Amino acid sequence: MAIIRTQVGIVGAGPAGLMLAHLLHLQGIESVVLESHSRPYVESRVRAGVLEQGTVDMLRESGIGGRIEREGLQHHGVELRFGGEGHRIDFQDLVGKSITVYAQQEVVKDLIAARLRYDEPIFFEAEAMRVSDFESRPRIHYAQDGSENEIACDFLAGCDGFHGMCRPAVAAGQIKFYERQYPFAWLGILARVPPASDELIYTYHERGFSLMSMRSPEISRLYLQCAVDEDIANWPDERIWEELQMRMATHDGFALKDGPIFQKGITPMRSFVAEPMQFGKLFLLGDAAHIVPPTGAKGLNLAVADVRVITRGLVEFYKSGNREELERYTERCLRRVWRGQRFSWWMTSMLHRFPGEDGFSHHIHLAELGYVTSSRAASTSLAENYVGLPFDTPGLF
Ligand code: FAD
Ligand code: DHB
Repeated sequence: MAIIRTQVGIVGAGPAGLMLAHLLHLQGIESVVLESHSRPYVESRVRAGVLEQGTVDMLRESGIGGRIEREGLQHHGVELRFGGEGHRIDFQDLVGKSITVYAQQEVVKDLIAARLRYDEPIFFEAEAMRVSDFESRPRIHYAQDGSENEIACDFLAGCDGFHGMCRPAVAAGQIKFYERQYPFAWLGILARVPPASDELIYTYHERGFSLMSMRSPEISRLYLQCAVDEDIANWPDERIWEELQMRMATHDGFALKDGPIFQKGITPMRSFVAEPMQFGKLFLLGDAAHIVPPTGAKGLNLAVADVRVITRGLVEFYKSGNREELERYTERCLRRVWRGQRFSWWMTSMLHRFPGEDGFSHHIHLAELGYVTSSRAASTSLAENYVGLPFDTPGLF
């Protein structure tokens, strides 16, 4: 059995684990990243697409923004569509900021490339089986190539997503959960067809929510609300296009063009927060600690915000031995996480049809959307949350 010693042991090579490893490297702090899947798997896993301006700035300031700058699609607004009409929320005019559409797996590729360029340790197909002694001298027990090995570290970063093993390692009485499940899911596709609009379109319709996004000038990313227990086999391509076309239709004849679908998946919707996010020397980051429904496009951005907070704490600790920032990790993260939760829950509630809703509920959805798109105050509130609330800590880099 091999024992590797490092300063920070990181479980998970998603956006949280990779970004943390990258920022720590820039600060001269050693880490080892463990990832249970293969490199091709994590580099092709289709998920998020919208990066807040603060997330893009952080990637750029840490030296890996080159490809985002060249290939990312900068958007200055989004459209909310309902009652057969589109209404633009102009971020630039309302809050002077923008968002960037750049696929999560491209962020993951950029961060892995940086890790390998610096020749820093990252082990793929290395599954953490157990974490121990996180009140004293933390250890990660992991399996790779049929043998069991160990990482001994000063701090342990649980960046292993919602279904990971770090959060369940915490004793039941020490952690509290807050949760909402939604009675619907999203069916998402990637299709080889130019996006129907230059900006994202979020649509509320009596048949349910739909969203038009994109990955490039040739590739569209589309989502539609479906049943929570939906079987993807019930959704042949023609049915998906027909449903999207009905939901996105406008009075002035908007026509969504179809094209070959090359990826399909169903995403459940959940709001979840674990409190606290730290246990001795174990820290939970990103989806391991909190999940939002995807309607506000906040999950990856919240994960990266946790990385920012913990990096600050670790830098201070290794520079001066001062643990003050680390001790405030949960408090600093959760204040902003709950704002992200509120926004994601609100966008989800406003834009989806809940089972059993009647005419009254339908008119409330329409009234709320009408208000949000016609009042400058309400549009500004949506815009400032969508582009990302400020990090409450001053810039680290
Ligand atoms: P993950 O990305 O889940 O990474 C965790 C990693 O840990 C994985 O690679 C996993 O394989 C690994 N792992 C797990 N267990 C172990 C173990 N025992 N040992 C070793 N490794 C392990 N967010 C946005 O900000 N904007 C959006 O537009 C957006 N849209 C979304 C659309 C969809 C359809 C979905 C599903 C999500 C969307 N999100 C969005 C959310 C975003 O994808 C997640 O919040 C983000 O992936 C969280 O990153 P993470 O690093 O915390 O976790
Ligand atoms: C995308 C995903 C989201 O959850 C969202 O709100 C907007 C866009 C996307 O994958 O492009």
